[in-house]
Amino acid sequence: MMTLLPGPDSPTHAPVLVDEVCRLVTPGPRVVDGTLGMGGHAEALRARGATIMGVDIDPEALRASQERLGTQQITYLHGRWFDPPILDTITKYQPHMVLLDMGVSSWQIDADHRGFTFRPGVVLDMRMDRTDPRPTAAAWLSSASLEELSDVFRAYGDERRSRQLAREILRRRANKLFETSDDLVNAIRAVLGPRSGPSDFARLFQAVRIAVNDELEGLERGLPYLRDALAPSGILAVISYHSGEDRIVKHTFREWGKTCRCPAEWPVCRCEGRAFGLVDPRRPLLPTPEEIANNPRARSAKLRVFRKHDEGEGPVLGDGLVAPLFGGGDRSGGAPARRP
Ligand SMILES: C[S@@+](CC[C@H](N)C(=O)[O-])C[C@H]1O[C@@H](n2cnc3c(N)ncnc32)[C@H](O)[C@@H]1O
Repeated sequence: MMTLLPGPDSPTHAPVLVDEVCRLVTPGPRVVDGTLGMGGHAEALRARGATIMGVDIDPEALRASQERLGTQQITYLHGRWFDPPILDTITKYQPHMVLLDMGVSSWQIDADHRGFTFRPGVVLDMRMDRTDPRPTAAAWLSSASLEELSDVFRAYGDERRSRQLAREILRRRANKLFETSDDLVNAIRAVLGPRSGPSDFARLFQAVRIAVNDELEGLERGLPYLRDALAPSGILAVISYHSGEDRIVKHTFREWGKTCRCPAEWPVCRCEGRAFGLVDPRRPLLPTPEEIANNPRARSAKLRVFRKHDEGEGPVLGDGLVAPLFGGGDRSGGAPARRP
């Protein structure tokens, strides 16, 4: 088994879209890197004068980045960026930028003891923090219901035969509980056939990882807190690698960029028709072919950027004018209505 622990001399995780991220900030900002990893983005941002608060759920990643980057203009926090105490600390920090570079680093996948990989004989763990009492991937596969398994493979793994795969897992675990990568690979092969291969294993292992770590729920729940924590004119930048992650970021940013920010159930607009900010650029930033050639992990990356309005900024509709109320919470279009 390959055991790989990151250290100051280990090949650093090549940060994805790093120039694009650095170009977003003006010199000297306070930046929260909510997914510090090996600190590739943090290092580049610091070189541009940023002061960094680095957050990571993985103690091994934190230790490695701390050894690599030291303590100059950077502090470290252990936890999930969407945990309430961490959000509290971020809010007090009033960052000019928050960066999220979702998922796991290459070294985490390469380290057999972390149990993310489909290489043979690896004990399925997949928890981003191995001290976390939450169930490992093996425990989850051995106990989740048919519905739960099937939903995860369909929603997070885009698997057409998700129910068949869930049934196969239930059938196999009746004889022997799931333990290693081989158990999951063999179940996938049994359902998808002998032509299934690494791309199927990677896709379905990733689905299990997302479920084990509650990644999408946390993202959806936590984004509004990050937006509110930003200093006026602050930037929220998210790099995602999975269509489910990107969908959440895209829809959330789009909603925030609409003209009225009041909850749909409020009968009258009270925000005076101010959006929270702007999705800018409107389309995601993607890696160049050169970056993908140098770092294949970048191929599915999408960077989306939301710029919070300064106080008093934003598309104010005019004195006495409010955004119209539409059914289903969509208040983005049409002519402004006069305040009653
Ligand atoms: C893709 S890597 C980040 C790489 C980093 N940008 C760099 O340049 O080295 C993602 C990192 O985020 C961490 N992580 C994932 N989800 C997290 C969460 N909800 N809160 C905090 N850290 C998280 C993982 O442990 C991993 O170290």
